[in-house]
Amino acid sequence: MTSQPSISFAKAGAPKKGSVFVFSTEGGGLSDAARACDPAKTLDRAFPVADFSGKFGNVAEVLAPEGTGADRLVAIGVGKTSALDEYAWLKLGGTVAAQLRKATDVAVILDIAGMEVDAAAAAGLASGILLRAYSFDKYKTKKDNGDGKADDKKLAKITIHCADPAAAKKAFADAESVVDGVLLARDLVNEPANVLGPVEFAEQAKELEKVGVKVEVLTEKDMKKLGMGALLGVAQGSVRPPRMAIMQWNGGKAKDKPIAFVGKGVVFDSGGVSIKPAAGMEDMKGDMGGAAAVTGLMHALASRKAKVNAVGIIGLVENMVDGNAQRPGDIVTSMSGQTIEVLNTDAEGRLVLADALWYCNQRFEPKFMVNLATLTGAVMVALGQHHAGLFSNNDELAERLTASGTATQEKLWRMPLGADYDKLIDSKNADMKNIGGRYGGSITAAQFLQRFVKETPWAHLDIAGTAMGSPTNEINQSWASGYGVRLLDRLVRDHYEG
Ligand code: BES
Ligand code: MN
Ligand code: ZN
Repeated sequence: MTSQPSISFAKAGAPKKGSVFVFSTEGGGLSDAARACDPAKTLDRAFPVADFSGKFGNVAEVLAPEGTGADRLVAIGVGKTSALDEYAWLKLGGTVAAQLRKATDVAVILDIAGMEVDAAAAAGLASGILLRAYSFDKYKTKKDNGDGKADDKKLAKITIHCADPAAAKKAFADAESVVDGVLLARDLVNEPANVLGPVEFAEQAKELEKVGVKVEVLTEKDMKKLGMGALLGVAQGSVRPPRMAIMQWNGGKAKDKPIAFVGKGVVFDSGGVSIKPAAGMEDMKGDMGGAAAVTGLMHALASRKAKVNAVGIIGLVENMVDGNAQRPGDIVTSMSGQTIEVLNTDAEGRLVLADALWYCNQRFEPKFMVNLATLTGAVMVALGQHHAGLFSNNDELAERLTASGTATQEKLWRMPLGADYDKLIDSKNADMKNIGGRYGGSITAAQFLQRFVKETPWAHLDIAGTAMGSPTNEINQSWASGYGVRLLDRLVRDHYEG
């Protein structure tokens, strides 16, 4: 991660230096606090020429405005104040971050004509700034801003001027835990597989002990003892041994059953013997996006001290081509005792999750399990890259997840499950095969997972299209999006705390 701007909160004021950001409602309405920053009314004159109407996301800028002492005055449109929801504040923060340029000294006048801006809004704005400012540039030895000159840019110090800075600071402390979780997930997904193998990923999970998470790491030997033949079959083609990390955050009542999150952590997916085409294979360093989201979420829950008992389990393997690699036609025995005929070694994520889900259910008897996985290319054919696929055996859980998706704009679309699809993975030679037919590829993958969850309420999120390579937006400019952390944090906040 690149170093981030620093953010603080202060009382309302009209700064006489640096870059000053103000907000305008639709029609160019500025608040008194904004007007105080622009005594010569330069913005009012600039708005028509800049074609600025105050619509949401509009930007108008005046350099070295007369009579202010400021270097720059930037107005950002907020549109209609009635439409300013949780996600709108993140986007406005993103718009601020996008306009930073080389500014080091930045004041944001968070005051809007005709509305009370609360602490949650201020925290959202600050979060949006950090989410947008993220970039993965640790391997660039020559940092430049595209102008060919070495980057001597100092980091921006941003002061958000608002009505109740103490309340804003408190709200942001909580929100920043979630931002940190998202950025951790992005870092893990962006990291190349030569650096982040299963062992190294498990070490990253161990780091969560610093925020109070209990972390256990199962080795290959442990998993052999447990009979995790499905996961181990995938791992056997790699010289790097597999791991499973079990993260527990106990912030709830001692007697409360935990909620559980399970992630696919294939640090690199070559396809194995059923090898993938060369074009685009580099993207398969991100095939651990599910595990990254679970790790980021556990970080968020622990560091904001969520009042919930939560378990995060990640299955960490590398799927490689090798003399010892699993072959098409091999039959493996999963921890559940069910046998699987591996007809395609590239359908490996479900094999990893089969053992991780079974282990989770057996050991923790959770209230529910949500698994996240970059599981199928087929989900992108079905939904594109703006919704993740949601599969569930439980309507209440599915509806809650969908609502959290709408609130956070980490959107979900429910897909079907059923006996007709389930029979497509029956096998001639074993209890099941790891691929279905040509059609409904993301559904047959989900049916496969369902065979390892019994009656426990469960949801599977197929995030192949949303975790990485999805279109950039106001709050993410990076290849890895960190998808799932904000979504599941919202689910926990709204339904499972206290
Ligand atoms: N990791 C891939 C799915 C994937 C593809 C994620 C593209 C992100 C971007 C998964 O392991 C896989 O290879 N799935 C196969 C399944 C098939 C062999 C039944 C697929 O989708 O082609
Ligand atoms: Mn694969
Ligand atoms: Zn995969």
